[in-house]
Amino acid sequence: MSKKASIGVTGLAVMGRNLARNLARHGHTVALHNRSEERTRSLVEQFGDEGDFIPAYSAQEFVDALERPRQIVIMVKAGGPTDAVIEEFAPLLEPGDVIVDAGNAHFADTRRREKALRERGLHFVGTGVSGGEEGALNGPSIMPGGSKESYESLGPLFEDISAKVDGEPCCTHIGADGAGHFVKMVHNGIEYADMQLIAESFDLLRGAAGYAPAEIADVFRTWNTGRLDSYLIEITADVLKHVDAATGKPFVDVVEDAAEQKGTGRWTVQIGLDLGVPISGIAEAVFARSLSGSKPLRSAAQGLGGPSRAPLTGAALETFADDVEQALYASKVVAYAQGFNQIQAGASEYGWDIDLGRVASIWRGGCIIRAKFLNDITAAYADEPGLPTLLTSGGFRKAVEDAQDSWRSVVSTAVKLGIPTPGFSTALAYYDGLRADRLPAALVQGQRDYFGAHTYRRVDREGSFHTAWATEDRTESPS
Ligand code: 6PG
Repeated sequence: MSKKASIGVTGLAVMGRNLARNLARHGHTVALHNRSEERTRSLVEQFGDEGDFIPAYSAQEFVDALERPRQIVIMVKAGGPTDAVIEEFAPLLEPGDVIVDAGNAHFADTRRREKALRERGLHFVGTGVSGGEEGALNGPSIMPGGSKESYESLGPLFEDISAKVDGEPCCTHIGADGAGHFVKMVHNGIEYADMQLIAESFDLLRGAAGYAPAEIADVFRTWNTGRLDSYLIEITADVLKHVDAATGKPFVDVVEDAAEQKGTGRWTVQIGLDLGVPISGIAEAVFARSLSGSKPLRSAAQGLGGPSRAPLTGAALETFADDVEQALYASKVVAYAQGFNQIQAGASEYGWDIDLGRVASIWRGGCIIRAKFLNDITAAYADEPGLPTLLTSGGFRKAVEDAQDSWRSVVSTAVKLGIPTPGFSTALAYYDGLRADRLPAALVQGQRDYFGAHTYRRVDREGSFHTAWATEDRTESPS
């Protein structure tokens, strides 16, 4: 009998192709399938010497090439195409077989698909995969959801091909049904926030301190040797150093300033709203992209008045880059704290048992937000698994407290000079909101009770109350 494959990949565009090659390079026999045969053929032609591939040119041939339990990784466009591929393969599979969706699916779709396939005796594993094309080939961060049982067969394969940090795989079973895709969604939300904060740092260094892009690249390279050491800072320095060959201008000056988005950041914010979790750093990052893309609105607003202050000079200029580093660090802690709180809220809403320390640990390598900083988050949750927010954990608390003078000064410089810093500003407002002893929400409750008899609770007595605002004596009664 001919050799069977331990796993199959269907959907051989660049991500699927690279995952298949990664699996083969690690010694696993991989069955290959694609809607158009050409992609299957060209993968084998170009990369056939990297490992054992079994090309299949029909769904049945693909399924027959797999050992049991069959494990099929689907790497196609999220939405309808994923449903179509599932429907193509599910009827050919047998109880206990596993279908893996490694695309960026919405976790609610994953929950729906998992339930439907479970009823047909199949395992469905929605898996977050981060790291782009390069990660898929050389070691991504992998976030599988689905049943524990499916992880028993799939886990060793995925751990094998994932990135490794200190010898540990950047892959862990996240939790049941849609947990993997939920965590990947929040990863992307944090990615948006992190990118926005870095972009604001660039804008400040240029607008307030007058640095050229190449000089800012050097500043980022220096930061990348310290606590901000991360993939995103590293690539930012490369992008800023790059000079456009056609014009000789900095690359960043010839690119249209309208940031696009595929949708995972928007999902994160929508779900944050549904769960009632203040993920303002992620939300501002999504809105900043929307604002950048609102071309007619922006052109109508050209010429609106702004402050007439001159950029920084003297001592303020000298310390400014350090101040921005502190502001970036503190704002980043806030964005991650909010993201982890969202995972916590999702876990409690959907009944997932998610280990936040493990999530931080598998984000240390392979993924887009990989950073030295995630070692500290891993350690914070190891010290205190029930940590309410990263901001109160020892190391972060001290670092943010120490950073706050610079943080406040950077935000006020931005405000005075009219440089938009929604990410820095909202992070600081969140920090001040959280640590406030009393919030003006008491007044909001008064307003709600006044116009809508919505009632309020008192600080000194149990129960709900209403004040008869329309009467002369404004008597209060329990409601
Ligand atoms: C990753 C990335 C990846 C992709 C995002 C970017 O983790 O590998 O997050 O999933 O780059 O889809 O999305 P936007 O187009 O929305 O910026």
